[in-house]
Order: sequence, then C-alpha cells, then structure tokens
Amino acid sequence: MARVFSGIQPSGELHIGNYLGAVQHWVKLQRQHDCLFCVVDLHAITQPYEASSLSQRTIDMAVGLYAVGLDPQHAIVFVQSHVPEHTELNWLLNTVTPLGELERQTQFKDKAQRQASVAAGLLNYPVLQAADVLLYRATLVPVGEDQLQHLELMREIARRWNARFTNNGGFAFPEPQALLSTAKRVLGLDGQAKMSKSLGNTIGLLDSPETIWEKLKPAATDPARVTRKDPGNPDICNIFTIHQGFSSPETQARVAHNCRTAGWGCLDCKRVLADNMIAALAPVRERAQALQAEPSGVRATLRAGAAKARVLARETMTQVRRCMGLLDAGEA
Ligand code: TRP
Repeated sequence: MARVFSGIQPSGELHIGNYLGAVQHWVKLQRQHDCLFCVVDLHAITQPYEASSLSQRTIDMAVGLYAVGLDPQHAIVFVQSHVPEHTELNWLLNTVTPLGELERQTQFKDKAQRQASVAAGLLNYPVLQAADVLLYRATLVPVGEDQLQHLELMREIARRWNARFTNNGGFAFPEPQALLSTAKRVLGLDGQAKMSKSLGNTIGLLDSPETIWEKLKPAATDPARVTRKDPGNPDICNIFTIHQGFSSPETQARVAHNCRTAGWGCLDCKRVLADNMIAALAPVRERAQALQAEPSGVRATLRAGAAKARVLARETMTQVRRCMGLLDAGEA
C-alpha cells in the first residue's frame, strides 16, 4: 500500500473549494492507501495571524474533516504541532536546501510581496512541507496545482539528502509524487480569486441552508450574461463548476441546456444548486454539530492520531539522526 500525506491549514472553515478540490478525494483515498492527513498549524503561523483564535480554528478544521468523512479508523488525522519531529526534520532539511530554490518559489514571492516585513519562516515554508511528507516517507501527495512547485522542491530536497547522507544499504527518502485531482478548480463566489476564507468569498460546508442561499444569490456567473434574456455559457460559469460538484449528471445537462438557451435565469439555476448543496451538506452539518458539542472528544481523537503519527515519525528520525552523524543520547 502506498503511503499518502496531505495537509490543510487551520483557516477555521472547511469550504466547498477545499472540499471539491481536495478533501473529497482524501475521503476516497483513505480506503485505498495508508493515509495521514494533517492540520498544518505551523504553516499557518508563517504569515501574520490571530494567535487568540488559532487553537479554535484548528479544532474547527478537524471537526470539518471528520464531518465530511475522514475516519480515524482508516486514516491518521492529526495536528502538525502535536508531532514535534516535523520541526526537527525541518531544521535538518534546511541544511540541504538551496537558498536560491526557496527564493524562487512563486508562493513565497506572492506572499512576501503582500507583507511589510517577511519572516524567515515564510521563506522556509516549503522545507517544513518537505519535512511533513518525508517524515512519513510518503510517496503520494494529493495537492492542487498551486503546490506543484513545492512538490518539485521536496523531491530535490530528498535527492540532495540521499546523495549526501544515505550510506550503504541504508536509509533513504523516497521521492514523493503529486497526486493531482482532475476536478476543475472552484473559484470564490466573486468569480475572481481562489475560494478562500480570508477573502470572504466562500460557502462553508457547515453553513446553514439560509446562508447558502444568501451567498449564492449574488454570486458571480458568466460575466457576458448581462440580462435574463442573454444566453449564457456554462463552460465559463463558476456556478456551473459548483453544479459539477453537487448535482447529478442529468441535472447538470438540464442546467447547461437552460443556460445556453436562456430558458432559465441565473437565479433559477442557483436555486437548483442551492437545493442540491443543502441536501448534500445536511448530514455533514449534523455530524459537525454533534462533534462540536463534544470538543474534548475531538481533542482526544486528535491526540490519538498524533500518537500514531509519532510512532512513525520517531522511526524515521532515529535513522535520519544516525545517517547525519548526530550523537545519540544513549540509554539512561
Ligand atoms: N502548503 C499546503 C497548502 O497550502 C499545505 C501543506 C502543508 C501540505 N504541508 C503539506 C500539503 C504537506 C501537502 C503535503 O495547501
């Protein structure tokens, strides 16, 4: 069985963009592979953030993951900072990571540009990400296209570490591969940017039926469709992309036809989508509410996940320390 690792930042809200783009696939992968899924709180602190809400956002993200069907019986779900080996390996990998590669990362450049003062942690973000995956010697990494450059760097870090430190017959890191989802990327409700909580353009998986409808009503559609009588083009409509995630193939065909012929207005199309989304998300909301009522249970489940992850992490670190020549502390 292949080992799979992926991570998600604790934005506090799992939204339909995360769901259709990533987490939905994680739920399938957990039955096919040996999976670890991590709430990456240490990545989240590389940019300015609200310390007072981080722990709650971390729990909320975990609740969302369990509610959509990640099952602690099938996958190891945990919080990154609960397994300190992530940061230990991060440091060790820093020593084989070329600075130039870090400076070339487009995500770093984008994020750095938007900040007055850039922390070293932001530059090293991809090294921590490499540590996340290599710590478990995972070979498959389900991610979106925006992470491909980080994946390439991760492979380079693995190669460099192996070239420098693998000794005969010894331990080596496998080079991880990206597992790209084929799903079309859902944009935010503004139809402009990636769906993201910080941009306020999301529909949360736990939003109420009323909120879902309130948010969908004004959402961007095919920009060329100005009046009700104009025919639309579903291929360039973000709402149609969301239909592809929540509506049956028959409904999608009906929606596309009524859009192209101006048989329906955008609101008619959105009403059908809202109904399907509300129906699909009702059980998710119900599970989330049950979990939220029992936060200590969620924390215990996360703790158990971290304990399992840590067993694997320690095995790797014993080898890594030995290969790198660090003196072991010996038996007490
Ligand atoms: N950087 C990833 C993102 O923003 C999150 C992440 C952290 C990750 N560590 C990872 C993804 C390891 C895959 C593997 O989406």
